[in-house]
Amino acid sequence: MNAPLLIAQLSDPHVGTGPDFLGGRMDTRAALQQAVAHVAALRPAPDVVLLTGDLTERGSAAEYAQVLAALAPLPMPVYAVPGNHDDPKVAQAALPQCMPVAADAPSGACCYRVRVGGLHLIALDTVVPMRSHGALPPVQLAWLARALGACRGEPVLLFMHHPPLPTGIEAMDACSLLEGGDELAALVRAHGAVQGILCGHLHRPVQMQFGGAPLHVAPSVSHQIRLDLRPGAPLLAQLEPPKVSLHRWTPAHGLCTHSSYVQDFGQGVPL
Ligand SMILES: [Fe+2]
Repeated sequence: MNAPLLIAQLSDPHVGTGPDFLGGRMDTRAALQQAVAHVAALRPAPDVVLLTGDLTERGSAAEYAQVLAALAPLPMPVYAVPGNHDDPKVAQAALPQCMPVAADAPSGACCYRVRVGGLHLIALDTVVPMRSHGALPPVQLAWLARALGACRGEPVLLFMHHPPLPTGIEAMDACSLLEGGDELAALVRAHGAVQGILCGHLHRPVQMQFGGAPLHVAPSVSHQIRLDLRPGAPLLAQLEPPKVSLHRWTPAHGLCTHSSYVQDFGQGVPL
């Protein structure tokens, strides 16, 4: 497989916020619809779309029905992981084609492995019920070790909601700790062919290195968290222009990540 693989990553749509959300200035369902329209119009078309969690605000079946309707224009496969605002069981029931949970997944965990082109995509479930931080418990780490082993050293892309490292945005770091991160880093390093780790949760674009692999946090397709690295800075939402992340992967060069504004800037001007 030598053709580039294109992976569009959408994160944290939070569908289900009320009309007063952020002073009435953010309609999260409309924001997801606009991001989907943007991805559907990309050329070349992405081969697959990944949703990295917080699909909904409260994890209700009605909210997932809205997410499912919003995703309808996408002709390519869509895969999702739950975030701390989701209910993994309700999400799996509403979006089974987006969450093809592995037959051997630990009880209740939304983890699975799918093959797209030359890449194995492995979804991890970092949700801790009723809490904002994340965790990969030992049973899921053991499942991941088996899943990585089944890939026999072939290229792998991991995706999950919670990023495993702090960012310096203290108020966000305080609710973002990922338990099991050290063990995850060891598995990534041992596999040796993890091309990248895609996350959400931070509502900001952030790049890191983790276990010797690149790690990308996609911004939200709706509202962002204000970038403020001052100690003690408050947690503030901000209506920056939403973006989707577009990952271009080739076996020879690995992962190249672009940011694509959902807003239409026209066809460009010849230089
Ligand atoms: Fe979120």
